[in-house]
Amino acid sequence: MKNTVVVGAQWGDEGKAKITDLLAEYADVIIRYQGGCNAGHTVVVNNEKYKFHLVPSGVLYKNKFCFIGAGTVIHPESFLEETSELIKRGVNLSSLKISPLASITLPYHIDIDGISENNSGKNKIGTTKKGIGPTYSDKIGRYGLKIQDLYDEELLNSRLEAILPLKNKILKEVYGSKIYTKDEMLQYCRKYAEIFRPYVCNEWVSNLSTALKEDKKILFEGAQGIMLDIDYGTYPYVTSSNPIAGGAATGSGIGPTYINNVIGVTKAYITRVGEGPFITELTDATGEKIREIGAEFGTTTLRPRRCGWFDAVLSRYCVLTGGLTQMAITKIDVFNDFDELKICTAYKDKRNGKIYKDYPTNINLHKFLEPVYETLKGWKTNLSNAKNWDELPKNAQIYLKRLEELVGIPIKIISTGADREQTIIIENPFA
Ligand code: GDP
Ligand code: IMO
Ligand code: MG
Repeated sequence: MKNTVVVGAQWGDEGKAKITDLLAEYADVIIRYQGGCNAGHTVVVNNEKYKFHLVPSGVLYKNKFCFIGAGTVIHPESFLEETSELIKRGVNLSSLKISPLASITLPYHIDIDGISENNSGKNKIGTTKKGIGPTYSDKIGRYGLKIQDLYDEELLNSRLEAILPLKNKILKEVYGSKIYTKDEMLQYCRKYAEIFRPYVCNEWVSNLSTALKEDKKILFEGAQGIMLDIDYGTYPYVTSSNPIAGGAATGSGIGPTYINNVIGVTKAYITRVGEGPFITELTDATGEKIREIGAEFGTTTLRPRRCGWFDAVLSRYCVLTGGLTQMAITKIDVFNDFDELKICTAYKDKRNGKIYKDYPTNINLHKFLEPVYETLKGWKTNLSNAKNWDELPKNAQIYLKRLEELVGIPIKIISTGADREQTIIIENPFA
């Protein structure tokens, strides 16, 4: 059994899609387990760029069972747009399937997300406005619709009768927003029931049980990152799902005893989009240089990403909460032209000098903390063509070895450029 989770081990956009695509070649089943179209996942193959939001990043290979699990939220228009674009580009989606238990993002979820953000002033979260929080709130509050509900008119009717009166009252009186009639929602649901039909996998229990019995290799693709996890991230500046590897079990329907490896995907520095604390953030020319060279602008919202030095305290926290067994370090090439690099090894409380080596989860404390850095020399050469560890410049090897020491787990994949080919695999989890 070699089942592996690819999880973002920072605040998202670590390059999970690149690593998922790379490993998908060796996997039989690829499962997206949480999140929705807030994710923006980029894969580059021979200079051709593919952007995924909900579709698993393994879909570019033929005959892999690509499954969108029960832990996800699906916005119908976005799904239609994403799949249409892929089909137009010649990607075969016949093995793409959706769990009937996945939740649906309805038009009013998008409305509520947008209005909440626009009215929150300095308290805004900086969401992607894709309706993620409102959809998960309704799921947990048992006020949501699941994909399978679309195929039972009687049930759909009674669900909408239960949901809409209260929802419309809230939309009108709290948000001052448009309300939705039952007929309007029924029409919407009927339309998307047909669009989803070829993808809905009612046989998922049998399919996944068989895959496990036949010892097929399963790859779980996380969206967002551990630091955006609803329970373990920098709450409330988080998303509304569980990107941590534990989420792979709940979100896919395959329990934790079937998971062997967890790859924490980690940039050689850190980025964050949206609001929230970020102890190693660089608001100076160095941060600007990282953003420019790393092209750090959101895939989904095009917002500039905040950039900062690698934070080993945060990474150690991700090893614990994510159950990471190894790291994949991405975007090391962004440092090709840097004289020196900093790594945060601890935090210091500016008020009393107290040192934190373990991540303090009370974010109210973070404004008092400053990073304790150690400085390493850059390599001042282009390493993107290195094919193996030995071809990496000496100072890059020293930098990577130091990250391993500080984080406490091995680096098994090194990404030296956006393209699938620009990767050094030290050990393949499926080998
Ligand atoms: P994800 O959300 O974690 O899948 O990451 P994104 O796709 O949002 O952002 C990562 C960006 O970095 C994408 O544009 C990738 O094509 C790009 N990328 C991934 N790995 C590397 C790398 O090693 N070097 C460089 N320069 N770019 C990379
Ligand atoms: P991928 O999968 C980076 C951030 C948003 C915001 C917070 C909540 O590409 O790594 P939400 O719309 O989820 O309610 O927003 O989470 N966020 C991401 N940041 N990468 C992502 O996905 C993200 N998905 C959500 O910017 O701060
Ligand atoms: Mg992304």
